[in-house]
Amino acid sequence: MLGIAIGEKAYWNKGYGQDATKLLLDYGFNLLNLNNIMLGVFSFNERAVNCYRKVGFKEIGRRRQARIIGGKKFDVILMDILAEEFESVYVKKFLQDQKTG
Ligand SMILES: CC(C)(COP(=O)(O)OP(=O)(O)OC[C@H]1O[C@@H](n2cnc3c(N)ncnc32)[C@H](O)[C@@H]1OP(=O)(O)O)[C@@H](O)C(=O)NCCC(=O)NCCS
Repeated sequence: MLGIAIGEKAYWNKGYGQDATKLLLDYGFNLLNLNNIMLGVFSFNERAVNCYRKVGFKEIGRRRQARIIGGKKFDVILMDILAEEFESVYVKKFLQDQKTG
């Protein structure tokens, strides 16, 4: 399971979340040899949902009404991505360079 947080709000919405997620996926798929990586995200967190969707995560289900905030109930959206759905951004090139260089 994966989760990320950028602490400084000034750095939100600049693509860093997508970059960080891609690096984590690259590590998980191409160094740890995982085949499926999943995450949970609150349904109100549209920025995070979009960030993960743009990297290639797909919604696989919802844990209904998993969080109550101020009397309002929110689902947790479950998302996952397969190794074959992800294009390596760094690790594969690094390993090729090691072989040839
Ligand atoms: C969630 C988080 C990691 C995303 O990282 P980020 O760098 O802000 O996100 P990115 O810029 O890579 O991508 C966000 C996308 O959502 C879009 N977006 C931003 N605000 C949005 C909103 N309110 N509704 C819908 N989409 C939104 C952005 O435009 C961007 O899409 P684009 O690339 O097409 O422009 C970061 O905002 C964060 O750390 N938030 C606080 C902690 C958190 O919520 N962590 C997730 C726990 S599951």
